[in-house]
Amino acid sequence: MRIADFELERFFARWEFAVRHLLCASDVEGWGMSELLALADDETAAMWRDLRLGYTEAPGHPLLRREIAGLYETLEPDDTLVFAGAEEGIFALVNVLLGPGDHAIVTWPGYQSLYEIARACGADVTLHELREVDGWAIDLDRLRADVTPATRLIVINAPHNPTGMLPDRATFDAVVAIAAEAGARLLVDEVYRGLEVDEADRLPCGADLGAHVVSLGVMSKTYAMAGLRIGWLATRDRDLLARVAAFKDYTTICASAPSEVLALIGLRARDAVVARSRGIVLGNLALLDGLFARWPDRLAWVRPRGGSIGFPRLIGFDSDAFAATLVEREGVLLLPGSRFGHPGNHVRIGFGRTDLPQALAGLDRELARTR
Ligand SMILES: Cc1ncc(COP(=O)(O)O)c(C=O)c1O
Repeated sequence: MRIADFELERFFARWEFAVRHLLCASDVEGWGMSELLALADDETAAMWRDLRLGYTEAPGHPLLRREIAGLYETLEPDDTLVFAGAEEGIFALVNVLLGPGDHAIVTWPGYQSLYEIARACGADVTLHELREVDGWAIDLDRLRADVTPATRLIVINAPHNPTGMLPDRATFDAVVAIAAEAGARLLVDEVYRGLEVDEADRLPCGADLGAHVVSLGVMSKTYAMAGLRIGWLATRDRDLLARVAAFKDYTTICASAPSEVLALIGLRARDAVVARSRGIVLGNLALLDGLFARWPDRLAWVRPRGGSIGFPRLIGFDSDAFAATLVEREGVLLLPGSRFGHPGNHVRIGFGRTDLPQALAGLDRELARTR
């Protein structure tokens, strides 16, 4: 397989651990081990204490799969498959679904692997452009028009990286219906689900809406445990899941034993875990409201409706040059929109980290220098 560089990941490989303040991270401030272990119940505490470091069950630990299935209304543990992060789930699913002659439609700008792996598999990919003038919304007419007889897969991500877009329920249902009418699979990347600004806007899980829909979840974002590298696919289509499981034999085979137990602890305590993440994200979003109020002639954004990131536009100065001087002078990292191949002079800003006040102080100082 020949595959283009993952621009965002190459950028993070250079900068992520070399800066003082990561103001573009997509994950939520990670849990400490001792804090997490304090949440264990008797069963999971014993599992952790007595853990043996052999291979694990290929589809995922049965208790972890049961907990994951519990996140959905209609799924059984056998409707889930555990992976090393969401990234491996995308890689395996797309490889199983797509080959030369197949067509996929993927929202863009977006997380590059959602379309790059499809291209590397030889599929023809239509990027469904989300536009700032539309509030980054999915355009249903355009989506319908992009469907061809060869369309096998439609991919959406909600809440969305990098814009924070979240479709309303009617739009979401319409996308599910468009995929069904096309005879295509729908992959719903739900890794930020639970971080809706207004909880009333939370969408149902895609996999609960039809056997042609596959949900993608992960411990990294809403559950604030990116270092576990535990993700999952969930769908009622067990034949598809069996093919994806067979593919996984050529990647990781099975998940990390310690990570599975820690993910189980985290998911069993998910009310507390998600409440912590929501507290960080919503508190930081209020601080960002202050930033946008202070700089109306320099910054504009569509306020995110969900997730831990947004995609503001810089007014009157270049986003690549600004990000470069910001990191050099203030040690604060923003992600230029060019890393998404997006020409609109935007930057990705992340608000899941607890050092956001310090990062904003540096950003304020650098914005003042643009005057
Ligand atoms: C939309 C989206 N999907 C999938 C992933 C991959 O998650 P992970 O790195 O935990 O595998 C990310 C990570 O940034 C993401 O933003």
